[in-house]
Amino acid sequence: MTFNVKTIAMASLALQILLFILASAAAYLAKKGEFGRHCNFMRVLVPVQIITIAVVMLPSMLGYLKNENQIPFFNIEMLLHHTLGLAVLALWIYINLVFGKPWMPRNLRAVMRSALVLWIISLLFGLHMYIRIWT
Ligand code: HEM
Repeated sequence: MTFNVKTIAMASLALQILLFILASAAAYLAKKGEFGRHCNFMRVLVPVQIITIAVVMLPSMLGYLKNENQIPFFNIEMLLHHTLGLAVLALWIYINLVFGKPWMPRNLRAVMRSALVLWIISLLFGLHMYIRIWT
């Protein structure tokens, strides 16, 4: 079975929107004080996201690079999108490494809120890239 680049890009976008909705629900759990459920949720959600990035978003990105386009600043936008997305993953690794340890910083909530904001900006860049290429 073969898929074209547009189908992969659409699947990638749909998956990322779904994962973001789930992450927002998990953030809401933390806001309500259900930290254990929030933590478990995020510990499953982000690895699922890593898999979707490797399996769906990477082929989509390679398609963009192969079908060189003339859209101004597209590659800069893609670089920003990737850098922010990877920053979220790095923060997730950091949160897991320090959580519950004696050296856990007091401002971990601020770190997580920042991760969520970076996630939103990265998703908006991805959405904008999709709209510029495919609509
Ligand atoms: C990138 C992944 C993550 C994001 C985006 C995220 C997001 C958030 C947000 C937005 C809040 C603040 C909610 C509020 O406004 O009150 C929060 C709080 C919290 N999160 Fe996460 N979280 C992530 C990963 C994790 C993980 C892996 C754990 C467990 C190891 C965890 C445990 C907690 C706890 C305990 C709080 C409450 C902190 C406090 O009130 O001091 N989070 N998270």
